[in-house]
This record gives sequence, structure tokens and C-alpha cells, in this order.
Amino acid sequence: MKHEFVPASSDSRLDHVGSYRRRLPVSLDRMYENALDWQHLPHLHGSSFGSIDCASAGGWGWRATVSSGDGEAAVVSELELRLDRDARRWITRNLTGPNAGAEIWTHVFVVADRVLDIVVDFFVPNVSADAREKVGRAYAKAYEVLYDEDVDMMTGRQNQLDVRLDGVDESEVLRLDPRALSPLPALVTMSGRRFVVDRLEAVEPNDTEWVVYPAQCPHQLGPLDESPLHEGTVRCPWHGYVFDVRTGECVSGSHCRLGRVPAVRESEGRVELRWL
Ligand code: FES
Ligand SMILES: [Fe+2]
Repeated sequence: MKHEFVPASSDSRLDHVGSYRRRLPVSLDRMYENALDWQHLPHLHGSSFGSIDCASAGGWGWRATVSSGDGEAAVVSELELRLDRDARRWITRNLTGPNAGAEIWTHVFVVADRVLDIVVDFFVPNVSADAREKVGRAYAKAYEVLYDEDVDMMTGRQNQLDVRLDGVDESEVLRLDPRALSPLPALVTMSGRRFVVDRLEAVEPNDTEWVVYPAQCPHQLGPLDESPLHEGTVRCPWHGYVFDVRTGECVSGSHCRLGRVPAVRESEGRVELRWL
């Protein structure tokens, strides 16, 4: 199935402005998880959403106030997503805001274990017949971007889930030439797990300290190695959780914390990582 925009047929419901179709390399579990995941909108889809304030959420879906655009141009809308698993479908409705009344119906067809076809139908009220295709194409274009971003997230998470996490081999010690770690931050694998190694400004002026933290976010396995360190913290690109890499604590209000890491120190001209 190609990624394609399909114009509404001339005798379709007056507010059906078109459909977007696409094949996705993901499982139904990942897809439902993504549909129910309101938290990722302003982070993973930062170019489309500015903020989100969730009013309620559960296995049924979610309702939230979202903003898009900046400053005075910001547009605020109340959105609701309702998932109907029996129908393999979810409906996103604009309850308030400039697109109030618009509904987006997404149907999923399972092609194989990790292959889905989706058909997204856009229903937008008060669009004249001759403007329908233009509006439909604009929706399809926006959805193309959102799904490009979502596919990266869903396949990235699936890859992480597929990696078997054996018990940590406590005897493993990594001794690295600091030049091999340049440029920082550097990604290293130890005991079958990936870690980021970097340097932080230390308390003493002109001094730095080595830090090591997991490349994977403890929330839903997002890629922490894709975000820069900022004053000793790292922000996950998927839902915006922020972690203090020295303590492992989440400093943005969530209860999860970074996973276990080896100790790091510089010894005899080498950067040494070992389990304590
Ligand atoms: S995966 Fe959700 S904040 Fe990192
Ligand atoms: Fe998304």
C-alpha cells in the first residue's frame, strides 16, 4: 500500500474531504499504544503541537486541550480520541477550537504480525465542494509527517523490546582510550546494554567529571542518546521526561528513574567503567 491521498468521491458525505492510506511496519500493540499515548504529542510532534493538558485518559482513549503554533498565533483546541478495539478503529474529534466539529476516523487492517494498513478518513464540516480536495490534501500532508515521526518511535521501541536483556555480567570492565570517546557524548556497549558516556562541569572550576547513563529511557525505552546533556540533565525526545544523569532521578515530575549504570572513573589515562 502506497502512502497516498485519496480525494473524496463526488457523492461522498459533504464533509468527507479525503483519506490518507499507508502501510506501517508495526504491530497492533504498538499502534494502539501510540494512539492512546497523548503525552508524546508536544515532544515527538513538536512541530505540530506546542503543549497538551490532559483532562482524562484511560484504555478508552483520552480528552485533552492542545495548543499548536506559538505566542499570539497559538491555536487552542480540545481534542478527544476514542478507541474502539472491536472495530479496530479510533476517532479523533475536535470538540472546540478553529476546527471544531472535524472528525478523523482511523481504521487499522492487520496484514501480518508487524504490518498494518491504516486508512485515515478526514471529515471537516463547512468545506465547500470545490475546496474539499485542498483541505483533504492539507490534512493528509500533516498526517504524513505525524506518521513518519510515529513510525520511528514505534519501531525504535519495538527494537528495544526485542533485545533480550540478559542478567548483567558483573565481571565486565571496560577500559577506554579517551580519544576513542571523542567526540562526546559517546555511545558504548557494556554487558549487552548501551550507555552514553559524557563529561560534566564539576564543582571545582576548570574541572570536569565523567558521567555515564543508559541510552534508553526507563519510561518507554525512548532514545536518550539522541538528546544533548543540559546542565547535568537529559530530556527524552518521546515524552519529554527529564532526568538528572548524576542521580538518575526524574526531575520533571514522574516516578521512574534511570536504570542501573556502571561506575566511571579515569585511571592510568583510561576511562574505566565497572559494575560496583
Ligand atoms: S520514552 Fe517516554 S519519556 Fe522517554
Ligand atoms: Fe503520534
